[in-house]
Amino acid sequence: MDIFQEITSEHEDFRKWSEKIAETTDRAVKTREDLFKKLYIKLTAHHEAEEEVLVPVLREHEDTKEFAIEIDEEHDVIDYIMEELRKLPVNEENWLMKFKIMKEQLDHHLEDEEEEIAPKAREIFEKERLESLVDKYEKDMSERKKKLESNYTKG
Ligand SMILES: [Fe+2]
Ligand SMILES: [Fe+2]
Repeated sequence: MDIFQEITSEHEDFRKWSEKIAETTDRAVKTREDLFKKLYIKLTAHHEAEEEVLVPVLREHEDTKEFAIEIDEEHDVIDYIMEELRKLPVNEENWLMKFKIMKEQLDHHLEDEEEEIAPKAREIFEKERLESLVDKYEKDMSERKKKLESNYTKG
């Protein structure tokens, strides 16, 4: 398994949870809060671990450097809206619209990593190199997830 297979399997959770959240009503406060918390913690840890482990590798080569910048910038946009969503009560009238706008950015970003960045990186970098990143990624990701879980608060 290489780093892209690993991150793609996590993307499936983001798709599943964000689809569910988009279908909730303003009255489903508890469901929305629970799903949002799961998404927030795993997605934030996922972004941070990608930035720590994958992005520096993509920066090494001229043909993938642009992707490193793209990942960082797309994460920034998604993280910014996720932070706003975390602070705002989930039954506020604009919460769901804000969430759906974040989801459009997220869906686009997941597709970029899977359809565009992964194939190019597999052309450029050795298979063993991309496989060796999995352990580092998993360790980084799970440490960050633990920290986020213990510090999580919802506005
Ligand atoms: Fe990702
Ligand atoms: Fe990402």
